[in-house]
Amino acid sequence: DGKYTVSLIEGDGIGPEISQSVKDIYKAANVPIKWHSIDVTPVIKDGRTVIPDEAIESITRNYVALKGPLATPIGKGHVSLNLTLRRTFNLFANVRPCKSIQGYKTPYDNVDTVLIRENTEGEYSGIEHVVVDGVVQSIKLITRQACERVLRYAFQYARDVGRTKVRAVHKATIMKMSDGLFLSIAREISKDYPDIEFDAELLDNTCLKVVTDPTPYNDKVLVMPNLYGDILSDMCAGLIGGLGLTPSGNIGDECSIFEAVHGSAPDIAGKGLANPTALLLSSIMMLQHMGLNEHAEKIQTAIFKVLAEGKTITGDLGGKAKTAEYAEAVIKAL
Ligand code: IPM
Ligand code: MN
Repeated sequence: DGKYTVSLIEGDGIGPEISQSVKDIYKAANVPIKWHSIDVTPVIKDGRTVIPDEAIESITRNYVALKGPLATPIGKGHVSLNLTLRRTFNLFANVRPCKSIQGYKTPYDNVDTVLIRENTEGEYSGIEHVVVDGVVQSIKLITRQACERVLRYAFQYARDVGRTKVRAVHKATIMKMSDGLFLSIAREISKDYPDIEFDAELLDNTCLKVVTDPTPYNDKVLVMPNLYGDILSDMCAGLIGGLGLTPSGNIGDECSIFEAVHGSAPDIAGKGLANPTALLLSSIMMLQHMGLNEHAEKIQTAIFKVLAEGKTITGDLGGKAKTAEYAEAVIKAL
């Protein structure tokens, strides 16, 4: 029927409410997408925590998924489901743009950063052990293969979106071997992209500079190991108003999962108060990834219009609108 099917992981807490907004807006905008809702609640198979087969099949078949927040248990005995998804599908690059929202005042104007995070290894490898009582080791695993593919992706991404510079963010002065490897591979790969300027910056310095004046980063793609990207992307999100406004895409060779980075907000779940903007903007990245650029443009313009007017915005942005009222305003603005 000429429609694409997209797997939808509604998620926990506010997930179903914000997913509903996406579905309503997409329907009103006649986006040629059918949603296939899947449950990724892990099952134990041979003593390992795995995603149910039906969910894996759905995402594999559809190539793209949109994902709401999944609660991450802290402590022993649980593997984060978010991480399991990234690893199961080998989603090696996590793309996190942060662009100022017109009409939403923060101490910074004109922020437009793009950060690409290695998404499968580093401190997230999950290799930890007790050496002796009171002494533990957490392994930061870095492989040439994972560095190469995320770095190549970053250069290609810069070229595709018309950014002229790629900057590797690292701490090779201290993590001499792991970040050193990342950095030397970055230098190697930069030779294949003579049209893109390459340089490197120490992570602590990037933090200082980004919060002092983010605008010099507006022509760059920042690329970095996993944990640095986790932390620095929240910092960049803070420049534009927080995780309620920032999208992300987990990109792999076989499939990609677009997700809101924020949590499941159990305190407001079910109350119709949540802001669906981050999930909506993630879905816009998804539409662009699928080549549905006209629909992406149309919905994004409507979202930005409603946010700029500031009349029908949710509580986190200082407004009084309920989730559904905000979605309705976006539909009217289409
Ligand atoms: C993110 C989140 C995840 C991460 C958590 C939920 C496991 O903070 O997507 O940035 O640490 O990567
Ligand atoms: Mn994070």
